Amino acid sequence: MSDLQFRTVQPVGSEAALLDWQHIHNLIIPTATLSVDEIVVRAQRNILEVAYVEGSPVGCSTVRPPESDAAAATVIARVLPGHRRHGYGEQIYQQGLARARDLGAQVIDTVVLASNDDGLRFARQHGFVEIERYVLPGDTVPFVDLRLA
Ligand SMILES: CC(C)(COP(=O)(O)OP(=O)(O)OC[C@H]1O[C@@H](n2cnc3c(N)ncnc32)[C@H](O)[C@@H]1OP(=O)(O)O)[C@@H](O)C(=O)NCCC(=O)NCCS
Repeated sequence: MSDLQFRTVQPVGSEAALLDWQHIHNLIIPTATLSVDEIVVRAQRNILEVAYVEGSPVGCSTVRPPESDAAAATVIARVLPGHRRHGYGEQIYQQGLARARDLGAQVIDTVVLASNDDGLRFARQHGFVEIERYVLPGDTVPFVDLRLA
């Protein structure tokens, strides 16, 4: 297993890391694709990172900070299908979890598209339990919210 290099997405539209994050996100979540402008807005309040192996993007993450002392932070790891089962998801998740804890999060949530079997299995194996399932307006596939027990 190779070590990953992480780059944080800066809220600047033309940045390479932002475009890599967009590519990975939209490929894995095709039912809720994000434009560059939407990602720029998200990068202002969330920590968005891209994980690289020898310069090639293999995955990305989203960490939504807690909105209050009692609120949950959200940590989402994503790995491109061709790079799964090499331990990258674990490294990306642990990095996101550490970022959330650094932000003071006591409660950790994650979100998985219900059709992402790998994601649901990964989340459950890391101690997350389902708390909510919902379909966004215009979508057909539900999102599953899970909380670290
Ligand atoms: C969830 C996700 C990030 C996991 O990524 P990944 O890189 O495959 O994760 P890992 O490689 O760390 O672990 C996956 C499996 O591969 C195994 N594995 C790790 N390194 C391995 C290796 N070198 N050889 C064989 N298997 C290996 C792990 O033990 C784990 O096995 P398990 O499913 O039986 O427990 C990925 O499937 C994904 O992007 N899913 C869609 C997005 C999503 O739903 N994310 C939410 C999760 S927070």
